[in-house]
Amino acid sequence: MRHFLTLKDFTKDEILEIIEVGLEIKKDLKAGIYKEQLKNQTLAMVFEKSSTRTRVSFETGMFQLGGHALFLSNRDIHLGRGEPIKDTARVISSMCDMVMIRTFAQSMIEEFAEYSKVPVINGLTDSFHPVQLLADYMTLVEYNVSENIIAAYVGDGNNMTHSWMILAAKLGFELRIATPKGYEVDAAVLEEAQKIAKTSGAVITTSHDPKEAVKGATVVTTDTWTSMGQEAEKNERIKIFNGFMVDDKLMSLAQKGVKFLHCLPAYRGLEVSEEVFEQHSGIVFDEAENRLHAQKGLMVWLDKQRKNS
Ligand code: CP
Ligand code: NVA
Repeated sequence: MRHFLTLKDFTKDEILEIIEVGLEIKKDLKAGIYKEQLKNQTLAMVFEKSSTRTRVSFETGMFQLGGHALFLSNRDIHLGRGEPIKDTARVISSMCDMVMIRTFAQSMIEEFAEYSKVPVINGLTDSFHPVQLLADYMTLVEYNVSENIIAAYVGDGNNMTHSWMILAAKLGFELRIATPKGYEVDAAVLEEAQKIAKTSGAVITTSHDPKEAVKGATVVTTDTWTSMGQEAEKNERIKIFNGFMVDDKLMSLAQKGVKFLHCLPAYRGLEVSEEVFEQHSGIVFDEAENRLHAQKGLMVWLDKQRKNS
């Protein structure tokens, strides 16, 4: 049985296969075909942080696959009152067929997975946001720009950056990261990504220079400067991140036809200018919609693995 806690545990072929399954299901959906691959199954969704896209996409996705999703906020379940993770995992996984968790520490979902009898999916932690990267890559495939990617990530070294690093390392593309000093990516994740990159041919670089990163890029991406849980640092971060906004001037250094991605929610006038965001809003909202399709692919894929195990 497989869990989906980070992309580190998946091979390039597996990542591409999950996206392929998602694209197949998307095609069916657009044609009005519902195969109900997860009929009568229940997905438990544990949320310790806010969400728009993750909740709507998993809940809708599960329904469209013939199953049911349970929204479990930590304000409502005993986990939020101190019931141990390992007990919560054993209870939920004795009744549900899959679990999606959005939380703070990566170690929380790892512990949950250790005690879970069913697949656990990372719906975002402080360290990684792997389901978002499935949707992001699916979008690049659909826009026919998934070959010879030169990606630039400009902004905070956070869960999104870490996930881009692992995706680049696994799939073997170039990723240039530019963060302000003091907001670099996690050194251990970088080391791990570089190790994987050695076998895939990926080139991952880090700097403090957004222009250097974006020059000649085919894909530019960014994320909020203030992630969930960092709200108290917001004003300080806005000052420190001055010069890291993805605006027209920065985008003009990229390759012609460059694609802009943003996991959303986007804060205009901070990590991205209103102009750049609106100019690329077509692909950005396709990227958001692809959360639904990519995660349906993931859930069907994990269910198949579980049945074969
Ligand atoms: N991109 C993303 O995960 O959005 P939500 O926080 O709204 O789920
Ligand atoms: N880095 C952001 C991503 C939101 C989808 C956060 O963790 O809040």
